[in-house]
Amino acid sequence: MTNNILPTYARTDITFDHGDGCELISTTGERYLDFGAGIAVNSLGHAHPHLVDAIQQQAQKLMHVSNLYKIEGQEVLANRLCANSFADKVFFANSGAEANECAVKMARKYKSAQHCQNGGEEQDAPFRIITFDGAFHGRTLAMIAAGGQEKHLEGFGPVVDGFDHVPLGDIEALKAAITPRTAGIMIEPIQGESGINPVDPSFLRELRTLCDENELVLIFDEVQTGAGRTGALYAYQLHGVEPDILTSAKGLGGGFPIGACLASDIVAGPMSAGSHGSTFGGNPLAMAAANAVLDVVLEPGFLEQVREKGLLFKQKLASVVDGHPNVFELVRGEGLLLGLQLKCSPQDMVAASFAEKLLCVPAGGNVVRLLPPLIATEKDFDAAVMALERAAARIET
Ligand SMILES: Cc1ncc(COP(=O)(O)O)c(C=O)c1O
Repeated sequence: MTNNILPTYARTDITFDHGDGCELISTTGERYLDFGAGIAVNSLGHAHPHLVDAIQQQAQKLMHVSNLYKIEGQEVLANRLCANSFADKVFFANSGAEANECAVKMARKYKSAQHCQNGGEEQDAPFRIITFDGAFHGRTLAMIAAGGQEKHLEGFGPVVDGFDHVPLGDIEALKAAITPRTAGIMIEPIQGESGINPVDPSFLRELRTLCDENELVLIFDEVQTGAGRTGALYAYQLHGVEPDILTSAKGLGGGFPIGACLASDIVAGPMSAGSHGSTFGGNPLAMAAANAVLDVVLEPGFLEQVREKGLLFKQKLASVVDGHPNVFELVRGEGLLLGLQLKCSPQDMVAASFAEKLLCVPAGGNVVRLLPPLIATEKDFDAAVMALERAAARIET
């Protein structure tokens, strides 16, 4: 067959037919342990009965209805997200990048309204957002500007204005970057795509203080870290530093596309009817999926278990690292958002793991990510560890 797909992905030559828990089964019947989980998406693994049932039930009733009408599942999901976080208001979108677009628009709108209320002119309102080297916020024109990575910007014309980049963890550079035109600061509490780079909790606290002192909007991009992946519903809850806006996507739908932008009442205030929108955002099917995911993730003890499983898996990975000092440098991460820093290329490790029927995901900084479904068990961790041992042996020879 002619390949008519735009070649924006370097794809492995395999097609998966179906999934079962933590496994993916290829069209030729081979089983792979899926520790990529669709890049932190399949939080409940594959074919989780509760999620499948919720989608089936909803599909039979109503898949889509316009946001011109009230959507019960949206109200329920927004309610649950707010009851379990700092937020008071939620906008539903369809992806992480879209949720981030909403976050930046909301921060700008809030600062513009504040500026004009204080007698300023709209054209002088603060609008710039400070982001960090190594950040990844998505692939829309504004979000590649927010991320600021040359490889994502190259060839796509003038860079969208309004983003200033500073080194991660450098508080003095951050202070120097704040100007009267700065509206906010956007950060991933753990940088995912660039290699599971943790952000020091004390840096997050300093960000909060700086934002309070300068009346800036603090945005946490929890597209990858959110929906239980780190062992808290949102990673900020591990450190007790609250943002003004938070974005969520990926694992929130367990495989069904969804994005969400959560905000405090104050910052959300100026977003009125007509100020933002999405045809598909918040549709009944996506809401049913995300509500089913939350049924599981918010069950008493589930997040605690994710934290415990994360520690257990990390310990097991540490012994793999110790056993293969020529291949691995170290293991890092939080909960089930883990990265192995390598002495070889991530592509080589992904390929060697694939040969051993383990799926993992490359990241920047010579790291492979291990992002198992949150329902993974010790048996799955042991199988992953054995596959990694064999993969390391392949690389060593
Ligand atoms: C932290 C972060 N923000 C935003 C995005 C973009 O999400 P999406 O691909 O759903 O637009 C990603 C995707 O990897 C991400 O990791």
